[in-house]
Formats: sequence, structure tokens, C-alpha cells
Amino acid sequence: MTAELHPDIAVLEPLLGTWSGTGTGEYPTIDTFGYDETVTFAHVGKPFLAYAQRTSSTDDGRPLHAETGYWRIPQPSLAELILAHPTGLTEVLEGFAAPNMPGGDTLIVDVRSSSISRSASAKEVVASERTFEITGDTMRYTMRMAAVGQPLQHHLSATLTRTA
Ligand code: HEM
Repeated sequence: MTAELHPDIAVLEPLLGTWSGTGTGEYPTIDTFGYDETVTFAHVGKPFLAYAQRTSSTDDGRPLHAETGYWRIPQPSLAELILAHPTGLTEVLEGFAAPNMPGGDTLIVDVRSSSISRSASAKEVVASERTFEITGDTMRYTMRMAAVGQPLQHHLSATLTRTA
């Protein structure tokens, strides 16, 4: 049985499917790197999208970061991302999801961390922000973080294309 998208998350419909593409990562404490990324957004008819991401190095294909979680719309235009990372971190990010203008064809999702938890062994991450722009089958995003003693600044940018 194919469920209808829950009406409370209709604003997230442009995300549904599988996306892949490439990105670049940097931070003052590490070497700049390129990555391939695949992301899926799925739903079961309840008011959230299930989200899964995996990445690999463009240099040699070795696995890099991965994350999984849920995207929620608790109130019209408000967005919540509930994410788990294999690096010992969990993040809750909150912000908005809305078209770039009334009736606009670009969905903007802009969120920042309201809480980050980490295990004793995880690297210190004290804040993060993400901005997504989705137009048709193209998704662009950037991610910023305050981590390992550094102030909030750019870590990632990528462009993905919907493949399914
Ligand atoms: C597309 C997703 C991501 C990719 C491909 C990626 C990749 C990388 C790579 C290659 C490094 C260099 C060292 C290492 O291999 O561990 C790194 C460092 C790091 N990343 Fe990311 N990352 C991603 C997302 C994130 C997210 C979401 C967070 C935090 C919530 C994060 C936090 C960090 C931290 C704290 C470091 C360590 C910096 C240091 O030790 O100096 N990364 N990342």
C-alpha cells in the first residue's frame, strides 16, 4: 500500500526520493576534501520524512561521514531535523522550511542546532547550521559548525541531483 504524504509535511514534498552528487569540505584544522554523497528521503504517511545519508571520498572511494534521522514540520513553516551520527554525536536542528517567495519554485530549509549531544569519545561540536535550496531536481546545501575549539564557520557545501 502506498501511503499519501501527510498534509502537515506537504512543504517537504520537493525532497522526496534519492539524490546524489558531490561536495567539498574544509575546516581550519583539516585538509580540504571532496566527497560523493547519496541521500534518501522517504515517508510512511506519518508527519515526518525518514532521512539517510552516506558519503565517500572522491579520492579513493573510502567511506566518510554518514548520518540518519527524521525531518519534521511541527507547525507550518517550522522545520526540525533530528539526526544521529556514527561519530558519537546526535543533533537537533530547528528553523524554517518555506518557498523562497509565495508560490516560488525554490524550497529553502534553514536550520541551526538547538541541542547537540555527544558521547565521551566524540569530537567537540558545540553548534551547527545548515541551509538547503531545492529547485526541481537540484539540491544545494551548505553546513557550518563550531567544533574542536573553532568558531562557527563553513565545513561543507554540495550540489545533489535527484536520481529516483
Ligand atoms: C557530508 C558530510 C560530512 C563529510 C563528508 C565530512 C567529512 C569530514 C572529514 C573527511 C574530516 C577530516 C577528518 C576525518 O576524516 O575525520 C572531517 C572532520 C570533522 N567533521 Fe566532518 N564531515 C561531514 C559532516 C559533518 C557533520 C554533520 C559534523 C558535525 C555535526 C562534522 C564534524 C566534524 C568534526 C568535529 C571534524 C573534526 C575536525 C578536527 O578534528 O579537527 N562533520 N569531516
